[in-house]
Amino acid sequence: MPETFAVAGAGLIGRAWAIVFARAGHTVHLWDGSADALAASIPLLRANLDDLEAQGLIDSAIEVVQRVLPMPTLGDALDGARWMQECIAETVEAKLGLFEEADRYAEPDAILASSSSSITASKYTEDLPGRLRCLVAHPVNPPYLVPLVELCPAPWTDPAVIQRARQIMDSVGMVPVAVNKEVEGFVLNRLQGALLAEAFKLVADGVISSADLDKTVKDGLGLRWSFMGPFETIDLNAPGGVADYCKRYGGIYERLQAEQAEVRAWDESTVKRIEGERRKVLGADDLGGRQVWRDRRLMSLLKHKQAATDEFGS
Ligand SMILES: NC(=O)c1ccc[n+]([C@@H]2O[C@H](COP(=O)([O-])OP(=O)(O)OC[C@H]3O[C@@H](n4cnc5c(N)ncnc54)[C@H](O)[C@@H]3O)[C@@H](O)[C@H]2O)c1
Repeated sequence: MPETFAVAGAGLIGRAWAIVFARAGHTVHLWDGSADALAASIPLLRANLDDLEAQGLIDSAIEVVQRVLPMPTLGDALDGARWMQECIAETVEAKLGLFEEADRYAEPDAILASSSSSITASKYTEDLPGRLRCLVAHPVNPPYLVPLVELCPAPWTDPAVIQRARQIMDSVGMVPVAVNKEVEGFVLNRLQGALLAEAFKLVADGVISSADLDKTVKDGLGLRWSFMGPFETIDLNAPGGVADYCKRYGGIYERLQAEQAEVRAWDESTVKRIEGERRKVLGADDLGGRQVWRDRRLMSLLKHKQAATDEFGS
């Protein structure tokens, strides 16, 4: 049954969430503190939807965009909404102010979710009368193409709210995972950070170029990771499964871990070197065009994954 979702913040992530909810058939109340950003958001959304339609991932861009209604105030956006997705500036102060207002105006049973990439919900919900219904629902950019969403409760978030949040996210085509404890960076960015830390060291130490490092992921590890995770990968990489793999190779990884434990800043000279290598391959003026290319490749991969899941199962 169509329902109403409120999206606070009409930037990159807010527009993408609006697509997720509207694509699933729901009405979206979109609001932004900047009237200019709100006015600009509908044509930008429309361009993304036209791409999705051209790739056959939605039937009609116009039908989806018509379900997204710009709202003049946060209170208007929350009127009748079962879920609020906050997508504003990544600062504690901004989120404190917004959640305080949202908790006052939201429907009594509405869930209030933040898109925050790094700030845990306890930092801006502790003093709210409705703190039981608040959590982080951390997306990956752009959520209408990358379906994972990390559901990260504060210590006081009601488990029933997490359960409902899972159901709602499932119903709009997202893939929710539960992060059981508050940890900085949640899970996805901790994994990404661990990989980047090692990648920077390998380039800084002259072990590999940034281009060949990227190939190691895109033509190596990443091929499997696009349809199975690291635990399933190692489960299939030894005849006796994961325990056999750990017995055979655990020692090697333990030695590597000891070497990898050193904390190293992303120093200026390494960043300069990687920047230089990247700009030779892709000029600064071409970054925007390449983002469009990335999103089209993601659409193509998404279609392939859907077809492959239908044929082989997940
Ligand atoms: N960009 C990403 O890759 C990414 C990925 C996952 C999560 N996030 C998170 O999503 C949130 C939004 O990020 P974004 O990339 O869309 O940023 P953005 O700058 O593109 O958009 C933010 C929007 O919020 C509005 N805004 C800012 N402060 C406000 C306030 N106090 N009240 C009302 N409106 C306000 C701005 O006008 C702007 O339109 C952040 O918390 C960010 O950490 C971003």
